[in-house]
Amino acid sequence: MNVIEVKNVWKMYGKLVANEDISMTVNEGEIVALLGPNGAGKTTLVKQIYGELSPNKGEIKILGKKPTDRQIKKLIGVIPQECEPYGDLTVWDNIYYMGRLKGVSKEVIKNRGEELLNRLDLLSKRNTLARDLSGGLKRRTLIAMALINDPKLLILDEPTTGLDPEARREVWEILIDMKREGRSMLLTTHYLDEAERLADRIYFLNRRIIVEGTPAEIKEKFADWYEVIDYTNGKVYKVKGEEELKKLIMNLNGKFEVRMPSLEEIYLQVIRNAD
Ligand SMILES: Nc1ncnc2c1ncn2[C@@H]1O[C@H](COP(=O)(O)OP(=O)(O)OP(=O)(O)O)[C@@H](O)[C@H]1O
Ligand SMILES: [Mg+2]
Repeated sequence: MNVIEVKNVWKMYGKLVANEDISMTVNEGEIVALLGPNGAGKTTLVKQIYGELSPNKGEIKILGKKPTDRQIKKLIGVIPQECEPYGDLTVWDNIYYMGRLKGVSKEVIKNRGEELLNRLDLLSKRNTLARDLSGGLKRRTLIAMALINDPKLLILDEPTTGLDPEARREVWEILIDMKREGRSMLLTTHYLDEAERLADRIYFLNRRIIVEGTPAEIKEKFADWYEVIDYTNGKVYKVKGEEELKKLIMNLNGKFEVRMPSLEEIYLQVIRNAD
């Protein structure tokens, strides 16, 4: 089943086309990453998926319903871009009030909230005002808030931007755990390593969808060139296709190394060629 289905969606801000004829899906249990440069239209697209904006054209279904359906907010967990927990409330109160907003009973919030504090390593911060937390702890608080209604689907707009490498990895571990529990996820990111680590499928987006596939598929499809480093003289060659590669290697008679393009190089190549 598709937990998210986007069909031929267009979104304009006045004359600016932010999303052009976008179709994409998230299947049950999948983590899907939207990758694209600043201004690519990622936030615009996810806002339409969780019902904060409406498309000018096209159709979106989330958990089989319209994004504006009142039930939807209670069933999903969202972390918008550049969102922070409410600074004047403690960690616990942020989680508690988010639960109440989503219609979760006090009893359930108490139990689940406790469990989330424990899991996200926030027990000692329970009574700290959110404004006194570090960026990583704020992000963990937001994750707890997004999970308080035990959502099947999470939508995360740049969940690790601004975090240090260790905090990023902590968030990854939490998200991988969420996936193991069968939750589906749509996330946006600028980080190729993040997409490669977390996502089952990736969409490269720059106003419109440019490429879709698993990280391995994308690599296989676009990695049609090789870099050969000749260690005898330090020269670096770039060749296209296996035939060229073989020819070059036959002519080398010392130590050498063959390198395939990384997902990052493919991404840059694909995004550049798209315009
Ligand atoms: N409320 C708005 N009014 C007018 N233009 C907007 C509005 N929101 C976004 N835009 C424009 O739409 C385009 C897409 O913006 P969007 O925020 O969706 O991109 P993004 O991929 O999320 O970028 P980033 O990676 O920087 O978060 C940009 O050109 C942006 O300036
Ligand atoms: Mg954005």
